[in-house]
Amino acid sequence: MSLKIAPSVLAADFLHLGDDIAMLNAHADIIHLDIMDGTFVPNMSFGFSVVDAVSKIATKPKDVHMMVVNPDKWIERFAKDGVEMLSFHLEAAGRKTSGNLKKIRSLGMKAGLVINPDVPVERLFTYIGKADYFLIMSVFAGFGGQKFIYESLDRIAALKAELVRRGDPALIEVDGGVDLSNAGALREAGADILVAGSTVFKAADPASMIESLRKA
Ligand code: DX5
Ligand code: ZN
Repeated sequence: MSLKIAPSVLAADFLHLGDDIAMLNAHADIIHLDIMDGTFVPNMSFGFSVVDAVSKIATKPKDVHMMVVNPDKWIERFAKDGVEMLSFHLEAAGRKTSGNLKKIRSLGMKAGLVINPDVPVERLFTYIGKADYFLIMSVFAGFGGQKFIYESLDRIAALKAELVRRGDPALIEVDGGVDLSNAGALREAGADILVAGSTVFKAADPASMIESLRKA
């Protein structure tokens, strides 16, 4: 299976967002939307007005990555927006993790569970079978344009091995500092979906950058 590329709208040009979404409709596999609340992470991004607007024209699956406290509060709202993939952080959900995953699935969305680089990857193993994808952060959530943390490769490989051992079909998504220098290694480690913000939107030709990442 070839890599799926999910460009992060956080790095798009918000004054010409329609043009950027049209480009993603033509070239990307998935549209990644980062929701930051200024509390779970020390930054804010955008909210429902932007997700609603993107929903109106997006023809590729929308993948919402919630970086918020109490993610359970927003699951129904994102379902209403027609979001196809919805993820939240294990660190933010705690004991509500299994319930959230169940609720996301019951509303017809793919359920994703995310961890920051300082959370042991084994903590995801409990949720194998309950999630449709696992998102391994390869930077600390909060900002685009950070440097890729190389230890992430071992974490992805460990999760992949456990998924294979259990025969579970969940996908592995990676987010943060993804570029052409690490995309091939990410695929070899077991990643299925690469999120890329700056690498795609700062490229001279974003469409061919998406294609190069996919072939990495
Ligand atoms: C960071 C976000 C990422 C971000 C990635 O907290 O979750 O999705 O947009 O940006 P790059 O690819 O520039 O690291
Ligand atoms: Zn993200």
